[in-house]
Amino acid sequence: MQVSNNQFIAPSILSADFTRLGEEVDAVVAAGADMIHFDVMDNHYVPNLSFGPMVLRALARRGVSVPLDVHLMVEPVDELIGQFADAGASFISFHPEASRHIDRSLELVKQRGCKAGLVLNPATPLSLIEPVLHKLDILLLMSVNPGFGGQAFIPYVLDKVRQARALIDEYSLPTRLEVDGGIKIDNIRAIADAGADTFVMGSAIFGTPDYAQTLASIRQVLSAPAEFRLA
Ligand code: DX5
Ligand code: ZN
Repeated sequence: MQVSNNQFIAPSILSADFTRLGEEVDAVVAAGADMIHFDVMDNHYVPNLSFGPMVLRALARRGVSVPLDVHLMVEPVDELIGQFADAGASFISFHPEASRHIDRSLELVKQRGCKAGLVLNPATPLSLIEPVLHKLDILLLMSVNPGFGGQAFIPYVLDKVRQARALIDEYSLPTRLEVDGGIKIDNIRAIADAGADTFVMGSAIFGTPDYAQTLASIRQVLSAPAEFRLA
């Protein structure tokens, strides 16, 4: 796993070529991806339908060498938590609005041996999850409204990133702070400077011809000294 300053790039396979999914995953991992982001959509919690645990199992069996970062955009969540844990998920994050009992669903993720996360939509306040922030291995902040790749980054989410970073640091938590949606090479530095350490990127990676070049450019922007960063 390649981590520069502990910053993780997690390509979202929602934007990959589904006719060659295994090869696409191999290619982004070879190019330096730190995790693979797996967007599960049920056409109930979000107005779109993507893929289920069988696809994750197939990728896990193929021998993906980096963690599988499952983002459940489903309601209810508990049954699918078990199925994705059995299929080989590393992280399982779900939307608190989609669970009747958030703490119980988080415990279920952990009992099944996965790292647990919650996902906040752009308009969902941090206060909703503050009581269980200490239980989170990862906090995922949506910077688009969930359901589709290729959308524009919602700028007001940057304030929530700063607030989340302040909370995590205040309690000295090991929680990863992940941002998801509309992240491009020209805004990722501002998102990192706001305090994010894990970046989901779909179209900004899979929409390019050379994944190694794309990831190298992203790493360069993230690691540039502050005084030299892009305006
Ligand atoms: C949207 C998904 C995101 C999306 C990111 O509901 O959760 O992970 O695939 O795609 P881009 O990076 O293209 O916005
Ligand atoms: Zn996602």
